[in-house]
Amino acid sequence: MLGDVVETLACPHCGADLAGDTAGLRCAAGHTFDIARQGYVNLLTGTGSVGTADTAAMVAARVDFLGAGHYDPIADALTAACADAAPGTLVDVGAGTGHHLARVLDALPGRYGLALDISKYALRRAARAHPRMGAAVCDAWRPLPVRTGAAARVLNVFAPRNPPELHRILAPEGTLVVAAPTTGHLAELVPALDLLQVDADKQTRIDAKLAPWFTLRARQSVTFTMALDHTAIAGVVAMGPSAWHTDPDRLRSAIADLADPLAVTASVTVSAYDPVRRLPNP
Ligand SMILES: C[S@@+](CC[C@H](N)C(=O)[O-])C[C@H]1O[C@@H](n2cnc3c(N)ncnc32)[C@H](O)[C@@H]1O
Ligand SMILES: [Zn+2]
Repeated sequence: MLGDVVETLACPHCGADLAGDTAGLRCAAGHTFDIARQGYVNLLTGTGSVGTADTAAMVAARVDFLGAGHYDPIADALTAACADAAPGTLVDVGAGTGHHLARVLDALPGRYGLALDISKYALRRAARAHPRMGAAVCDAWRPLPVRTGAAARVLNVFAPRNPPELHRILAPEGTLVVAAPTTGHLAELVPALDLLQVDADKQTRIDAKLAPWFTLRARQSVTFTMALDHTAIAGVVAMGPSAWHTDPDRLRSAIADLADPLAVTASVTVSAYDPVRRLPNP
């Protein structure tokens, strides 16, 4: 694993710094972690909430859909939000296949990225997504295996977020960048394919949950139209949360009734938050 990325990692058992080589990582207390053949390190302790990990099929669908460029405007907005990042590693929490982080790193020569996710299928891809990216399996709901203040930027794109931990790993001068869908996201597909609807108050809830730890600095609306053929429509369903709830036969026949290609709206917000400065504990 890349030395510069290892320098941001902390032991998930005791919080000490991790060091190592291509074979594995260890902390001073002797906790050891293997690096998988595919290049990611497993820093998951216990069983974690692995029930929400993207499956192999979801990851394959995501690779194809993102690789076709359908969400490029989202990657562009994330890249713009990271353009002035202070020195240091960029950490993507719930990074999936590392697609967006790779795009951000392309625009920041010499910078390193760390992809965190609970899905080993996703991280097999992330570990190879960019020569300056490392990948570690962990649970976003538990203490993150990242040193305090080690992240110049923390990204969180359609993924779970645990505000106190995002705050802890972010450098005091760093920025948290969150991408979240609006209620208009995939609006043409939601009723036609009986997909999960994004709540109208999702953004308000995200802001409220982050509020004790972060203040909103800037928000951009990213809305665009995609021309999706039936394969791409099946892919966007298969890679998202509706994949857990949809009957494959019903989905296939509902997709067959749609125009091919179909104009589908993508609608997300990309928000930049400053960390609230906290007084040290007495
Ligand atoms: C909708 S996908 C988004 C992936 C990526 N950010 C992207 O936009 O392509 C959500 C990701 O969160 C991951 N995830 C779900 N639960 C998690 C958890 N408890 N800890 C860490 N990652 C988790 C999934 O494995 C999946 O890769
Ligand atoms: Zn340790």
